[in-house]
Amino acid sequence: MAELATASVDPIEFIDLGAQRRRIGERMDAAIRRVVDHGRFILGPEVAELERRLGQFCGARHVLSCANGTDALGLALMAKCAAPGQAIMVPSFTFAATAEVVAWFGATPVFVDVEAETFNMDPVSLEAGIAAARRLGLKPVGVIPVDLFGLPADYDPILDIAAAQRMWVICDAAQSLGASYKGRKVGTIGDLTTTSFFPAKPLGCYGDGGAVFLDDDDTISVLRSLRVHGQGTDKYDNVRIGMNARLDTVQAAVLLEKLRIFAEEIDARQQVARRYDVALRDLVQVPKIPEGLTSVWAQYTVRLPAGFDRDDIAARLKAKGVPTSVYYVKPLHRQTAYRDYPVAGNGLPVSEHLADEVLSLPMHPYLDPATQGRIVDAVRAVL
Ligand SMILES: Cc1ncc(COP(=O)(O)O)c(C=O)c1O
Repeated sequence: MAELATASVDPIEFIDLGAQRRRIGERMDAAIRRVVDHGRFILGPEVAELERRLGQFCGARHVLSCANGTDALGLALMAKCAAPGQAIMVPSFTFAATAEVVAWFGATPVFVDVEAETFNMDPVSLEAGIAAARRLGLKPVGVIPVDLFGLPADYDPILDIAAAQRMWVICDAAQSLGASYKGRKVGTIGDLTTTSFFPAKPLGCYGDGGAVFLDDDDTISVLRSLRVHGQGTDKYDNVRIGMNARLDTVQAAVLLEKLRIFAEEIDARQQVARRYDVALRDLVQVPKIPEGLTSVWAQYTVRLPAGFDRDDIAARLKAKGVPTSVYYVKPLHRQTAYRDYPVAGNGLPVSEHLADEVLSLPMHPYLDPATQGRIVDAVRAVL
C-alpha cells in the first residue's frame, strides 16, 4: 500500500523550472513577444535595460552582458591580458570552464585546494600554488576564486594575498549572483566578477547567457569592444582582437522578467536550505555558511560520511523517486585535459575526498515542505 501511495504522488524535480513558468509564464511570453515584434534581436533595448537593472541589483557600477558564463570569464581574462608564461590560480573542485579559459590564452592554470567545510578556495593552498608557480618559472598574475554552490569564497584573505603579490582577482560567480560576503554583494568584490545565466543557475535564462560586473570605467569600454570583435568607435575599424560574445535580446527579455522575482526566490531558497539543515544535520555534513556570508543555494550539497557507497545511495534514492546529482565526480587536476598542469603543494587531498563524498539534493525555490519532507524521509531511510 505504501508503495502505491508513493507511486501516485507527483515526481520530484531536481530543479523545477516548470513551477517558475507556471508563476510568470504569461508575463514571460509577452516579453518574448515584444522582442519578436520589435525585431532588434542583437543588442536590442532589453540588453541595455538588463545591464542597468543587474547593476542596481548588486551595486556594480558597470555590467556587460554576454553569451555565457565561460565567455564572461574569457572576456575578463582578455581585459587582463592573460598570456603565455603567466600562472593563474584556480580551485580544482569546480566546473571545467574556470580553468579552461586560462588555457585558451596559453596561460597556465595552477590548481589550488579547497576547504572541507565550505568547498571554496583554501587561502593557505593559494599561497602554496603561488610558490609552486614561481618554482616553475611562471609569473603568478591572477586568482579566480569560485563561489561554489552559491556561497562566496573567503575573499578577505584571498584579496590580501593577491594584493601583496600584485595579482588581480576575477570572481567566478557563475553560481552565486545574489549572494553576499560581509555586507558586500557578489558583483562588487574582486577586480571583475563573472556570472552565468545557464538555465539551471539561480538566475537562469532560456538558453545560454552570462555577464561581467566591474567598477572600472576604462575596462568596461575595453569589454564592450571585445564583446563585438574588438570593434572601435568606427565599426569597420577593429582596434583589438575580440570575440562574438553578445547576449541575445530574447534572453535579456527573459532575464528581466526573472529578475523581478529573483529576490523572493532567493528567500525561498534560504527556507528550503534551512529545512534541510534541521532535518539532516545529525546524519551528514550539511553546508556551512560562515558568519557574515549568505548563499543563494545554487546547490544544496551534503557530504556523506566516509565509507558510504554513494552510487548505491543515489540509486536507492532514485528508486524512491528522489533525484540527486554529484558536483563534481572528478576534481579538475585529475581530468584528462588538465592533469599535466601544476598543483599547489603536495597534492589536493580535500578536493579528492570531496569528489568521492558529496551529493547534491533537489534544490529550487518552489520546493514545498511536503515534497521536501518526502526527500528527507527517503534520505534518512537510505542512510
Ligand atoms: C563555476 C562555473 N564557472 C563557469 C561556468 C560556465 O558558465 P556557462 O555554462 O554559462 O558557460 C559554470 C557553469 O556551469 C560554472 O558553474
